[in-house]
Amino acid sequence: MAINWFPGHMNSTRNAINDRMKAGLDVVIELLDARLPGSSANPLLAQLTAGKPTLKLLNKQDLADPERTALWLAHYNSLPDTRAIGLDASNKAPAQALIKACRELAPLRGGMVKPLRVLICGIPNVGKSTLINTLASKRSAKTGDEPGITKVEQKIVLDQDFYLFDTPGMLWPKIAIEESGYNLAASGAVGRNAFDEEEVALELLAYLRRHPAYLDMLKARYKLGEVEGMNDEQLLTEIGRKRGAMLGGGRVNLQKAAEVLMYEFRQKVLGPISLETPEEFKAWAAVAEER
Ligand code: G4P
Repeated sequence: MAINWFPGHMNSTRNAINDRMKAGLDVVIELLDARLPGSSANPLLAQLTAGKPTLKLLNKQDLADPERTALWLAHYNSLPDTRAIGLDASNKAPAQALIKACRELAPLRGGMVKPLRVLICGIPNVGKSTLINTLASKRSAKTGDEPGITKVEQKIVLDQDFYLFDTPGMLWPKIAIEESGYNLAASGAVGRNAFDEEEVALELLAYLRRHPAYLDMLKARYKLGEVEGMNDEQLLTEIGRKRGAMLGGGRVNLQKAAEVLMYEFRQKVLGPISLETPEEFKAWAAVAEER
């Protein structure tokens, strides 16, 4: 699926991360979307911060399938120098869990002489501003004042010896994996104008119906009968009909049906759904690698 990104933003982010690496960095927090942790990661971040321990924050866990979030957390927690925790905006005091996990990742840092320096990154729409606002609300947030550090870098003092740095610019996802493009679009990480909604909705349906628990959610929400014999387009048509997305002459407005389906998926109207498991993502990545 073709998605148009804006490389200019990416360069400023790359520079900001490089600056932070030079100035000193102990732990990287990578904010991921709990519904699509693999697809919402950016391999560039790992490249730029090679050798630094990483905390994976699976954000928006309120929207995700809890069983799958548990699989992803176990997967990340089994990797060296990596920890993972789930989070969502209903947590009004996220700092404690975040500080604890980072301290465990860099046990030799801490205290006024060697404060812990942590960088937080994430692709657009993953919830970074929301989290930063919550974290910064009671703490001093100021621009970077260290040599070589861009003035727009935000520094949040989360604890006396714990500095959280927020990079300016955008870290776009890298879409080398076809399924990731669809999942990012379905989740809302990609601007509406960058993809074909009908195409994405059909892929979303194809995925959901392959998983019995999600198929049941679809059937319950749209009062569908047996869908075995239907192809994805017929299924989307049926959903459109059930939700009143009609054109004249009894025809279904597929564009509208696609919008409804994606809106309801994003708002958790269908139920808590995740679009990938660690195993699925690994298999997709292997296929993409072979191409
Ligand atoms: P960003 O800085 O990473 O780009 O993301 P931002 O914080 O702006 O959040 C993007 C959207 O995700 C926001 O919604 C925000 O309210 C929502 N969001 C952030 N954290 C969570 C979370 O933990 N759970 C849920 N369910 N939503 C979260 P929006 O697009 O501004 O408004 P809307 O989509 O609600 O209309």
